Parts: sequence; C-alpha cells; structure tokens
Amino acid sequence: MRRAARAGGLPPAWGLALAWALILARAQALENGLARTPPMGWLAWERFRCNIDCEADPQNCISEKLFFDMADRLAEDGWRELGYKYINIDDCWSAKQRDGAGQLVPDPKRFPRGIKALADYVHSRGLKLGIYGDLGTLTCGGYPGTTVDCVEQDAQTFAQWGVDMLKLDGCYSSEEEQAEGYPKMAKALNATGRPIVYSCSWPAYQGGLPPKVNYTLLAEICNLWRNYGDIEDSWDSVLSIVDWFSAHQDVLQPAAGPGHWNDPDMLIIGNFGLSYEQSRSQMALWTVMAAPLLMSTDLRTISPSAKEILQNRLMIQINQDPLGIQGRRIVKEKFHVEVFLRPLSQAASALIFFSRRTDMPFRYTTSLAKLNFPDNTVYEVQDVYSGKIISGLKTGDNFTVVINPSGVVMWYLYPMVQPWCLVRQQGPGGGVHPLIL
Ligand code: GLA
Repeated sequence: MRRAARAGGLPPAWGLALAWALILARAQALENGLARTPPMGWLAWERFRCNIDCEADPQNCISEKLFFDMADRLAEDGWRELGYKYINIDDCWSAKQRDGAGQLVPDPKRFPRGIKALADYVHSRGLKLGIYGDLGTLTCGGYPGTTVDCVEQDAQTFAQWGVDMLKLDGCYSSEEEQAEGYPKMAKALNATGRPIVYSCSWPAYQGGLPPKVNYTLLAEICNLWRNYGDIEDSWDSVLSIVDWFSAHQDVLQPAAGPGHWNDPDMLIIGNFGLSYEQSRSQMALWTVMAAPLLMSTDLRTISPSAKEILQNRLMIQINQDPLGIQGRRIVKEKFHVEVFLRPLSQAASALIFFSRRTDMPFRYTTSLAKLNFPDNTVYEVQDVYSGKIISGLKTGDNFTVVINPSGVVMWYLYPMVQPWCLVRQQGPGGGVHPLIL
C-alpha cells in the first residue's frame, strides 16, 4: 500500500523509469525460487576425485555406475526422505573434446548411456541430478570448460539433459571473464525455463571477501557459492575452514538467507580423516553455519556411526530451518572452547559448545545469561546428539556441559512459555513443539 502511494506521487517519467529499473533488476536476478533451505545431497568430488581408471577400479571410478549406485543408496537407505535429494557429478565426467556441434559430451566409455538417461533414472528414484562445469578454457581437472561464449549453449545442454543443479567452477578463467560469465550463466539458466540450482565458485577465486567479492550481487545471481579453498579429508582442513568462516563472519553471515547460501564445501563424514567426535563436530558446525549438506562419501560402505550422524533428524531440521539465518561464533575462550549460536524460527535457537582441546573431556560452565539470552526466560533444552531433555533452564542458571576433545555438545532450545501457552489453548497434545521428535 505504502509503496504504491509513493510511486503514485512520482512524475510519470520517474514512475516509468522505476518500473524499468525493477524489471531489469528482476531480469538480472536468478529469481528461480530454488534452495529456500540449504541444498542437501551427495557430491562426488572429495571422496572420488578424478579417478577415471575404470579398468583398474570399476567400483570407484567416475562413471555412470558410481552415480546409479549412489542414487540407489540415497533412495533406499533413508537419505531421500530426510532431504538428501541431489546427486551431483563433479569434474572429469566429460569427453576430452566437445562434439562436432560444439556441445559438451560425456565420456562415451564411462557414461555409455549419456547424462539424460542418468537424469531420468535419478528422477525416477525421486532424486535430482547435479552436474559440474567450469567458466574457463579448461575445468580444474583439464576437461573442456565453458568459456563465456559457450555459456548459453551449455546451459541449454544441461537443461535438455534434465539437470537440476549446476556447480560452475572457476579454473582457467580471468577475473574479467568471471565477472562477465557468472551473471551470464544465471541469465542463461533462467532462460532455459528449467529450474536449475546454481552453485558459483566465483568468490573462492577472488579471495572470498569484499571489495573483490560483492555478496549482494552474488545473492542475486547464485543459489550457493564456494567462498574458500577445497576441503580435504582431514581435521586440519575442517578447522581451517571453520577458522576462516568465523574470522570473517561479519561479512559472510549476513550474505546467507533463503535462496542464497555460503558453501564451506562438502561433508567428509564417513571417510578416513575424521574421528567420531570430529565427525559430529563437522555436522554440527555446518548445520549452524546454514551450510549446504552435500556428503562426499561412499554410501555403499558407510559405517553405521557415520550414517547416524548424517541422518540425525533434529540436526537436519535445524539445518533446514525456514528462517535461513546463518549462525555465528559468539564466544572464543582462551582455553580453546568456542560457542556458536544460530537463531531459529519460533524463537528457538541452536547452540554448539565446541572444544578444540586435545587433552580430555572438558567441563565447561556458563549460563544463557552469559550467552546474551533474554532475561527472565525459562527454556526447554534438547541435546541434539543424545536426545536428553533439560526442562526449566532459566536464563540465569549456571550449567556445565562436558565436551570431548575436538568434539561438540549441541543444544536445541526454545522458551518454555510457547508450548505451555499452546497446551493451554489447544489442550493436551497441542503443546508439542514441532522440533521435538
Ligand atoms: C576445484 C573445486 C573442487 C572440485 C575440483 C574439480 O578445485 O573447488 O570442489 O570441483 O575443482 O577439479
């Protein structure tokens, strides 16, 4: 109402100019309505890399078999129902040359049925297919790239194949080519008419920070973006990512929201580099960072304990919270304990107590008051991993959590006044908070 009244007060020429400006802004923006919560699924790269030796290693090489297998696992082992829907191809899927018409083609030996057939199968299993391209002369692995001139053709090809997500990498492209090519691909994807989630590696190639990186523009053209270097299969690598994201949270945290997410890279839980505690930490930290949950692990052989971490229902509901507010590190103690907080819908929050210590389980005492929670409130707390419930925690109460070395204690908490009030209004059973499982 107010906006219409204001526009009505403008001289007609201004009104027209404003209308055009709005139309142009919309045409620039991705506007695809996708990724309202962080995308979830599986991505080949960290675990399977550019292993193309299908003769020596048919089970693990980058071939259609790997993706058919993982689609079956996502569909049959409880992943899909939890939201893990995307099955994403990374580098090294294509032939070394484009075809006569200049079109990208999959390697004929490793993908004999082609990408369309794979997409059809993935869709028949209730899943979605992602693919990888690179805005340069070559992909990082040395396969044909999508130079600026090829952007429209490749967007069409991916749409015709039935692709649902595109990761566009940035190897072998200049700063100028990236500035032109990333927005151009957003438009080209829009123009296909097919909903395709767009993951941009652009900021990672420009140091991840302003002034080189414009997060306002990124949020308009990309659904998610890699800000920083590649994750490797080690705890050091996870820590370096957490350190960088926390150090720059004032810039990064406001950039995230429904439809546009920071991407600290894949989950490596289930592989070789993380202990049990470290795996729980990566899952908790990625959840509170509102990160995409893209697993890169062998779902055919994953251990029950890794699976349990990745399939924690309350964790996933927190990650997928509809408000889409990215969390922040709010405490950094000298003795290597940190606290992270993510505000959630319905006045709830998630807290992580994270220990970087390497000695023994650490007893950390604090209170919600010290963590700046509002005064005079009573909370119900659920431990996200153990499921234990603490009822009636007051803001001023001191409490102690025991945090294992390189581990976390993670809490989901909400003010008790809300369910009590609902109980009174709706009678028994009406007061169950949606996140209490
Ligand atoms: C870059 C990306 C990785 C992966 C490889 C593939 O390094 O950051 O995630 O896609 O390229 O070559």
